[in-house]
Amino acid sequence: CGIVGIVGSSPVAGRLVDALKRLEYRGYDSAGIATIHKGEMARCRAQGKLFNLERRLDSDPLRGMIGIAHTRWATHGVPNETNAHPHFVEGVAVVHNGIIENFSELRDELIAEGAVFETQTDTEVVAHLMAKYVRDGLEPRSAMLKMLNRVTGAYALAIMLQNDPGTIMAARSGPPLAIGYGSGEMFLGSDAIALSPFTNEITYLVDGDWAVLTRDGATILDFSGNEVHRPRQISQTAAYVVDKGNHRHFMEKEIYEQPEVISHALSHYVDFASNRISDNVNAIDFKTASGLAISACGTAYLAGLVGKYWFERYARLSVEIDVASEFRYREMPLSPSQAALFISQSGETADTLASLRYCKDHGLKIGAVVNVKESTIARESDAVFPIMAGPEIGVASTKAFTCQLAVLASLALGAAKARGTISAEQETELVRHLAEMPRIMSRVLNLIQPQMETLSRELSKCRDVLYLGRGTSFPLAMEGALKLKEISYIHAEGYAAGELKHGPIALIDENMPVIVIAPFDRFFDKTVSNMQEVAARGGRIIFITDEAGAAASKLPTMATIVLPNVNEIIAPMIFSLPIQLLAYHTAVFMGTDVDQPRNLAKSVTVE
Ligand code: G6P
Repeated sequence: CGIVGIVGSSPVAGRLVDALKRLEYRGYDSAGIATIHKGEMARCRAQGKLFNLERRLDSDPLRGMIGIAHTRWATHGVPNETNAHPHFVEGVAVVHNGIIENFSELRDELIAEGAVFETQTDTEVVAHLMAKYVRDGLEPRSAMLKMLNRVTGAYALAIMLQNDPGTIMAARSGPPLAIGYGSGEMFLGSDAIALSPFTNEITYLVDGDWAVLTRDGATILDFSGNEVHRPRQISQTAAYVVDKGNHRHFMEKEIYEQPEVISHALSHYVDFASNRISDNVNAIDFKTASGLAISACGTAYLAGLVGKYWFERYARLSVEIDVASEFRYREMPLSPSQAALFISQSGETADTLASLRYCKDHGLKIGAVVNVKESTIARESDAVFPIMAGPEIGVASTKAFTCQLAVLASLALGAAKARGTISAEQETELVRHLAEMPRIMSRVLNLIQPQMETLSRELSKCRDVLYLGRGTSFPLAMEGALKLKEISYIHAEGYAAGELKHGPIALIDENMPVIVIAPFDRFFDKTVSNMQEVAARGGRIIFITDEAGAAASKLPTMATIVLPNVNEIIAPMIFSLPIQLLAYHTAVFMGTDVDQPRNLAKSVTVE
């Protein structure tokens, strides 16, 4: 899941491990590094967390001023030491992110020629192919080019050859890869965060690029072997301090950062002096669009689902939305008169990118709501709407979600303004509510913290939890369930409150808490009726509402979380806070690995 490489002028092993630590947030289940010292290539690998690798390196250090390193998130082959990268075959070392799709055909071919495979990974074919071409007498670069023309699929690769000890070769077809420029040293990394301690001067490889790095610089080529030129840019990532501050986990820090980052996000799309939406939201022509297609994965998809309610309600713009892995295959009729929005924190999610390209092929105008402005999704879009959340390290998304919501709310209001479906007075009124959000978020975070800790003790005893909501609270119910299951491993489902009687009601008993998200909005009475149905069957209710809702409902609950009364446009962001904190404290209480939950990856660059 993470790649680092250094062609250095001083020992690299320690620096490679430090850079891997900065990529830890992406999720992984084994790690390894390889270096070349005095013409000898050596490696060290370990299953599990990086401290296992560090422990091995302490007792058996790797020397050398050139090396590559990897954290692996298993796709083909279990996450044990044998399958951990780098893979070695006859003086060739390979680390790889992604999937080599034709590996089984290549593997059969190589086995027929006498190759002996040591692992169950798809990656090993790359090492065998390289070794074979070098054995056949090809120069390293020619071997690389020939190999790249044999493999298909999604990959970011870093390769070292023992008999070419001053060079790292890299290639990209899918997962991101960046080259970093140092003084007398060159770096390679999966993202700017990994490279930020070394340099802020970077070049992103584009799909179909490969590169040769030596201490003196980098040459970038295409898969026909022609040199290409890519811009160098100054990465902003170094400006962000990637540490936990006074918090126990990145997730906690990111939850508490929300008031601040939301105000950054808003100030990009809203003119607070005049309380109007800024014109930059119409970088996509919402005015003439016949409809909007939204596609995303995971939490970003749920943000998009809230966005659908807003675009339809305020801008009278109909929205097609689906998870990206379904969107591109469902063969929906698309027309160039529609606009398309892709929401992605990382900007690298493979399925979201594939949906984007699908829409592009159909002639739609493309907008990207991303956190990483240099990402592939941002680069391939016509208009980029940054969410300004700063690096999100916790695998479970929190601040990116609420910033995505803030941006989508601004875009929906901008679209409404352009389409003439809200008046100037309504716009000013709604923008005034948006402007209040950071202050209200701060207040709520302080207000509810102790109650969330107490409640999470109860939740941690449960096997299943049901979340219910209506309107924009329905996607929030799904997000609440997703957060809880991701980090505490408690089974949870989010349902539209109205669907309760069509199935989930059969599960209600005194053991399963039902978390009802219901601000005092147009849907409130209906949702309370659904709560009645739960209460009548002995279900235990955790009621997340506002002051007006708490006053209006007389139902007995296991707990009622009372938030301030807020306007409908900001309720989803404010109501996100208790669901995030509940999941967080439950996971902390259960002792799970909150920032890097098992089996999950932060950025999923395979389909
Ligand atoms: C992974 C992460 C989720 C995230 C999803 C989409 O599953 O664990 O937190 O919501 O990918 O990622 P993206 O970067 O496209 O928002």
